Amino acid sequence: MKPMKFAFRKKSEDTAGQVDFSRLPRHIAVILDGNGRWAKRRGLPRTAGHKVGAETFRTIATYCRDIGIEYLTVYAFSTENWKRPKDEVDTIMVLLKKYLLEAIDTMERDNVRLRFMGDMTPLSDELKELVDQCNAISRRLTGCLCSICINYGGRAELVHAAARFAEDCRVGLVKPEELTEEALSGYLYSAGIPDPDLLIRPGGEVRQSNFLLWQCAYSEFYFTDVLWPDFSKDELHRAIAAYQRRSRRFGGLQEGST
Ligand code: IPE
Ligand code: IPE
Ligand code: MG
Repeated sequence: MKPMKFAFRKKSEDTAGQVDFSRLPRHIAVILDGNGRWAKRRGLPRTAGHKVGAETFRTIATYCRDIGIEYLTVYAFSTENWKRPKDEVDTIMVLLKKYLLEAIDTMERDNVRLRFMGDMTPLSDELKELVDQCNAISRRLTGCLCSICINYGGRAELVHAAARFAEDCRVGLVKPEELTEEALSGYLYSAGIPDPDLLIRPGGEVRQSNFLLWQCAYSEFYFTDVLWPDFSKDELHRAIAAYQRRSRRFGGLQEGST
């Protein structure tokens, strides 16, 4: 039996040990990608991947709360995702309803604030009502603020912000020359939330896909081939550790480099 002991010993990677928990990113954004391929690889319908992906979101959001991440923003459904086959879109909406109903029951206990970002107009009245309920409960809580982007597009968000600013000008609340970067940020869905420090994209694609175009101007990007349903705490540790090795300069120079 003795030699077998060594054959089966797996070198475990201490992913938590790679993270400095005293200087975590304040705000992590994640593009929840790879659900369809995860399911396809298992011979399952794409929608099975969305189901498991929703569970992964729950695990990661709770863990982010536990370690003290203040803001988590996830991309769950884009303005472009309506191009998908109707049955896939319908299933995603059914899953969203299920998720919202569960969240309404558990949010207070879990102390995770859920907020929705995007244009909710095309959602059913029932979904809109559940979204409003979640937003209202969140206002009473204090835990990690999880923003779920539904029917969200970075360009659409900017157009929406510009239209609201133009309207405020028209009714005399503000003057065009008063527009600053800070003022424009206040017209975005993300008003009041600091910009993401770290943007994670699982699923192997190396693109932003219209996510937080304004807010990610100086975010650190982390790409991984791991598909979202397989995303684990270990993978999150790896992403945070990679972020902590980066030198953020915001156009300036690194301290001590002159
Ligand atoms: C992300 O997974 C979820 C949504 C866009 C709704 P995908 O459905 O894009 O999965 P892949 O990229 O096809 O594997
Ligand atoms: C981005 O994933 C949108 C979401 C995860 C909600 P997509 O799968 O839609 O992005 P592309 O089509 O690969 O760029
Ligand atoms: Mg995809």
